[in-house]
Amino acid sequence: MAVDLLLGLQWGDEGKGKIVDVLTTHYDIIARFQGGPNAGHTLEFDGIKHVLHTIPSGIFHPTALNLIGNGVVIDPAIFKKEIEGLQPFNIDIANKLLISKKAHLILPTHRLLDAASEAAKGKGKIGSTLKGIGPTYMDKTGRNGIRVGDILTDQWEAKYQLLKEKHLKLLAGYPQNDTFDLNALEAEFMAGIAIIKSCKIVDSEQFIYEAQAQGKKILAEGAQGSLLDIDFGTYPYVTSSTTTAAGACTGLGVAPNQVKEVLGIFKAYATRVGSGPFPTELFDENGAQMAKVGHEFGATTGRPRRCGWIDLVALKYAIQINGVTQLMMMKGDVLSGFDSIKACTAYTTSGGTQEHLPYDLSDPSIAPVYTTIPGWEEDLTGLKSEADFPENFRKYVAYLEEQLATPIKIVSVGPDREQTIFRS
Ligand code: IMP
Repeated sequence: MAVDLLLGLQWGDEGKGKIVDVLTTHYDIIARFQGGPNAGHTLEFDGIKHVLHTIPSGIFHPTALNLIGNGVVIDPAIFKKEIEGLQPFNIDIANKLLISKKAHLILPTHRLLDAASEAAKGKGKIGSTLKGIGPTYMDKTGRNGIRVGDILTDQWEAKYQLLKEKHLKLLAGYPQNDTFDLNALEAEFMAGIAIIKSCKIVDSEQFIYEAQAQGKKILAEGAQGSLLDIDFGTYPYVTSSTTTAAGACTGLGVAPNQVKEVLGIFKAYATRVGSGPFPTELFDENGAQMAKVGHEFGATTGRPRRCGWIDLVALKYAIQINGVTQLMMMKGDVLSGFDSIKACTAYTTSGGTQEHLPYDLSDPSIAPVYTTIPGWEEDLTGLKSEADFPENFRKYVAYLEEQLATPIKIVSVGPDREQTIFRS
């Protein structure tokens, strides 16, 4: 058994990029299994901040191979920009990056459809990143999609035209649908297709299978978070892929019995970007402090993230759905300076108090029940080991570990690789 999974347990933006980067020295292959350029995985080292959208977060390490799996959707135009952004770092992209033939392509018209569909939803909008994610996965499951392997065939142009025409007919059904320059979008798209063609395009499930047979260590990298999962998230305010552990099986072709550790990442508080229910959301100075100190702005869209206290009901649910074996707690440093910290341990609902996630978190009768924990004043960003934890921070970590009944193996106290504490 040689595949470990790494997943976000909240609404995304937990810090997966940083942890994958830190852990890559222990792995031979990093494989992204779902999502697309709606993700923004941030890595920081040597004073430089990098944001990856489609490329796995192991790309900066000298030896690890990085695979974009079949479950990922790729926007060639964004992919091209990502590759160009890596050029100053002399990364051997030709040999270190592999792309699944079965990954689906985001067409320019997918992006236009995403924008049109969101605008039509009015107040009920999902708050999509508008990267074309929903329409692309719809075409995938509707069996109309175009896959990376198609661009290597003679029928590729015809397939593209056919799907584009279909999209244009759909777009005609929306108001204000003529404000785009499709020629310009197509030129960027085709330039991106040329870049994809220059990469190693592989039968990724076979690649993963053979790597496992050779005893290679593989880390499957998730995107977004469990509460944005298409089935188990706060539907319909979710993304369109399986962000939970099962997504790694379908998104890479890994058999369930090949999965070993499931590493679950969470923030010491909670954030959400986009619309949808968030019971522990704060609208006061505490929320503003989290947003300011935690630099809570979307890495992909720049939108401010909504902030709130940690929700243990939702976290327990995510741990259960994913079978998490180890936890990683991020951004503990952001909570320095709070007199006290709250953790949601149950919800009051119209049917009484409930300790498991209700069917519809949007139900206005739902309110969090909090436990209050003493805060700490000390700055944590320079901490090097667990022995140096301030007493109340140690107590907070111990409280979460006990509540979540899962060991917290890593505590992160800042964005840099160096600000990572491994617990025994
Ligand atoms: P979409 O995946 O772009 O369609 O967006 C659907 C919902 O998921 C919106 O609320 C987005 O803000 C949210 N979302 C998508 N990707 C991310 C991410 O990487 N981090 C956090 N939220 C995300």
